[in-house]
Amino acid sequence: MAESEERPGAEHWVPRDADLEDLRDAAEECRGCELWRDATQVVFSRGAATAPLMLVGEQPGDREDLEGEPFVGPAGRELHEALEAAGIADHGVYRTNAVKHFRFEQRGKRRIHVKPAVGHVVACHPWLEAEIAVVRPAVIVALGATAARAVLGRTVRIGEVRGMILESSDGTPALVTSHPSSILRLRDEADRRAARDGLAADLGKAAELIR
Ligand code: URA
Ligand code: SF4
Repeated sequence: MAESEERPGAEHWVPRDADLEDLRDAAEECRGCELWRDATQVVFSRGAATAPLMLVGEQPGDREDLEGEPFVGPAGRELHEALEAAGIADHGVYRTNAVKHFRFEQRGKRRIHVKPAVGHVVACHPWLEAEIAVVRPAVIVALGATAARAVLGRTVRIGEVRGMILESSDGTPALVTSHPSSILRLRDEADRRAARDGLAADLGKAAELIR
């Protein structure tokens, strides 16, 4: 963590006046914090520059790290189902993460997800800023506390701001909701159903800002 604070952050690697493809290519070279070193590859984003809805997650997980695509693992499946339940078409969605490299701890053969530190979120923020500038979404949905920190530029409690229309640090309408992986941690089926409904409802609320 101390190391991420010593490093310069992603700024140096972000090209000016770039389109999405330029950004994707350039992110492969990013050394703005130390997380690139143990990760398989950068996981930049998925979706078109024309998408009106931007979804921001925390960081790539194990599967995402291996495949190079965001939200392809179990949390991605929850997210996909919530989008469907909210009636949001896939082509209108741009998916990205607050932090673009997988942070984990190796335990034997298993790689255990470790939450990114605020230093990593800050270091990686120039990429998110550049993405927002290119995509210019009508609304940004932050999934969970780490994404909320990145999108809003300040620390919030999910329970206090959930479902409210706020503003991202660049002035885009932004809504904070829970991370889809929090659904996976629930053991009780009724709790899960309620959490799924809550996520879909928040996504639906965000989508209303587009229409
Ligand atoms: N969780 C995230 O926050 N992002 C992903 O891309 C996958 C899981
Ligand atoms: Fe760069 Fe972000 Fe990866 Fe750190 S996590 S190396 S800032 S792309």
